Amino acid sequence: MSEKPLSAQTNQNTVQITFPDQTQLALQVFSDAIIRVCPIDALPAASYAVVAKPQPTQFTATVKNGVAAINTAALHVKVYPDHHMDVFDQNDRELIMDYRGQRQPLNRDLAADETSLLEEEGHAGHEEIDATAALTLTKQLDPDEAFYGLGDKTGFMNKRGYEYENWNTDDPAPQMENFTRLYKSIPVLYGLRQGRPYGLFFDNPYRSHVDLGKESPAYYSYSVVHGPLNYYIIGGHRLADVVANYAHLTGTVPLPQRWTLGYQHSRYGYQDAPEMIQIADGFRQHDLPCDALYFDIDYMHGYRVFTWDPGRYPDPKKLIAQLHEKGFKAVTIIDPGVKKDPGYTVYDDGKKHKVFVKTPAGKNYVNRVWPGRTVYPDFGKPKTRQWWGQCHLALTKIGVDGIWNDMNEPASFDGPIPDDTVFSDNGKKSTHAKMHNLYGHNMSHATYDALKEQTGRRPFVITRAAYAGTQRYATVWTGDNHSLWAHLQMMIPQLCNHSMSGFSFAGTDLGGFGSDTTPELLTRWIEAGLFSPLFRNHSALGTRRQEPWLFGEPTLSIYRKYLKLRYRFIPYLYDLFALAQSAGKPVMRPLVYDFDEDRQVYDIDDEYLIGDALLAAPVVTKGKTSRLVYLPAGQWIDFWTGKVIPGEQEIRAAAPLDTLPLYGRVGTMIPWGPAHQFLTDEPDQTMTFKVFGDTASYDHYQDDGYDFAYQKGEFNQYHVTFAQGKPAVTLTTAGYPAGLYPEITVAAGDQTFALQLENGKYQLIDKN
Ligand code: GLC
Repeated sequence: MSEKPLSAQTNQNTVQITFPDQTQLALQVFSDAIIRVCPIDALPAASYAVVAKPQPTQFTATVKNGVAAINTAALHVKVYPDHHMDVFDQNDRELIMDYRGQRQPLNRDLAADETSLLEEEGHAGHEEIDATAALTLTKQLDPDEAFYGLGDKTGFMNKRGYEYENWNTDDPAPQMENFTRLYKSIPVLYGLRQGRPYGLFFDNPYRSHVDLGKESPAYYSYSVVHGPLNYYIIGGHRLADVVANYAHLTGTVPLPQRWTLGYQHSRYGYQDAPEMIQIADGFRQHDLPCDALYFDIDYMHGYRVFTWDPGRYPDPKKLIAQLHEKGFKAVTIIDPGVKKDPGYTVYDDGKKHKVFVKTPAGKNYVNRVWPGRTVYPDFGKPKTRQWWGQCHLALTKIGVDGIWNDMNEPASFDGPIPDDTVFSDNGKKSTHAKMHNLYGHNMSHATYDALKEQTGRRPFVITRAAYAGTQRYATVWTGDNHSLWAHLQMMIPQLCNHSMSGFSFAGTDLGGFGSDTTPELLTRWIEAGLFSPLFRNHSALGTRRQEPWLFGEPTLSIYRKYLKLRYRFIPYLYDLFALAQSAGKPVMRPLVYDFDEDRQVYDIDDEYLIGDALLAAPVVTKGKTSRLVYLPAGQWIDFWTGKVIPGEQEIRAAAPLDTLPLYGRVGTMIPWGPAHQFLTDEPDQTMTFKVFGDTASYDHYQDDGYDFAYQKGEFNQYHVTFAQGKPAVTLTTAGYPAGLYPEITVAAGDQTFALQLENGKYQLIDKN
């Protein structure tokens, strides 16, 4: 039988390739820079991650010499009769090239019976999905190629040379770069191939594996245990464009309430209402700004979700009112596991409404978490999400301000949940194997919708487990780190890779969760985390407590200095959140995000950028009082001394215990807010703009900071310029008149200028 040549048929945005063996593949053009690749029959499948729709896009699809070429303005894709595919940029330079050789699995020199021997001493065996049984993509690796993204994975900024798994996992042991998986699965990968950026987003929630040049310097690979192979090729002029394209594909982070950018304090172990008040008073007495206190699992009655322990918290509504009075918001933890306990309303009601996941035999599936024997809400079912949302009335009605979702990988103390446990996939019968990595995503979705409906405010949901796209519903934290210098070091790449992966709103437990912190470590952590979007100190039961006043001086004063500094930067962070929402630009950025043409920054793990204007280079090593700082192109101003330093060089920065080396980029400006002990819904009465250098312009965003009125135009935008020694402020939008600052100050070098609002315009009134 003679083979037919490869053919390509275009239908609207989709090119259908038919190979000589008569199998087919679809390439769906979403935009110039985004092309989805999947089997034809996977095209209509709903995605939990992707929110963008294919846009009308000019492209060509032709077949020449038996090879199909799909060309947009940004991407050139070639598909060959033997199923291989290569992707080039608009100038036909290589981006993603199929590897044509045979894979060579690593020789681990281990016989099967030796694995159990190793386990006897407590060694974890090497666990890897069976790549031969999985669907795999293998791509050529350039000697120079660097990788970023993948969400919360451990280790370093550049992921090259490591392997990772996407299977949400709760493992509280000290997480180091040998951990292949953590709590989240965010399968977006960015590559820089000879400086040319691209992205690959593998949208399949089943367990998957990525090897980034560990197995071989010749290739990298992605494998997933169950089809379809469904992925997106993402292009962009610069790495920042690729990141923005991915953010638009899966949805950007919604603007949070302003107070959520303040300092937050938590501990697994605060015992009762009097202790919560004591902690709140401790912050105020020690002049330590703080916006939120957390209630960990101890507040519940026998760890039953949506209950309060009557002995320890006899009147939670009154307690929350007292905290509000003192300027603290209250955030309560909610785990998914519902205690199997007839007579407990949540369990009885859930059982009645059939909202729990089931065994294949049709019984409610039971495992064990904090409350003992527990059942698991089936969040893939819209009805369950609705029901779960309603349960939150018990909390929102008494004034709870935010919900912290934990243990939602989901965690199970009595061994793994079997793969064939029956879970729902948006109402369709499915399995744990498919829905596992989506569990935290769907739980966050339920919580987000409930808080929005019940409070009318922008929901503050924090989740530990997530999938790509969860950023639309929740902020995330990196789970159970330890009070170790290695974990302080890991915070920077971890948060930067989160933000590259769509999650601009992320944080780690400042000070470290497990193990005992030290005064020096806590001090360096509060400095290093100064711009961490989620700024929360949290520690574990049984570890040294982490209230800053317990450490005496100089820890207390330095901690206070940085909390106060954080509040000054909140208007800048809020502006960056507005940009994250509108333009998909991360708040906290690795240097490579902005300087991807500078090979020197590819492996920087101990510096980060905050927006365009600031570079932080924290001390993350014990005992150091100075450090080397690489300053990229441009000129930089030492935040503390005002000294101008040329970029593209490494400098030694002085960093005594109380100093975070921090630099402003010449030619930029930042808003510098008033001092606060905590944030309220009241607008600031004045705003200062600090200019780095002698010429800069800046767009500042302002709204009420708590509800959705901004979506109806209730916001202000200020265009601030400084040139030739003169400031000017133009109001480009004034949809939130109640918020307009009566007074604005512009500070440039040692000069300050005052401007006042008169008849809707800012007039210069003073100079000194
Ligand atoms: C998990 C969480 C941790 C929390 C603890 C008790 O370990 O990661 O943050 O404090 O459970 O709820």
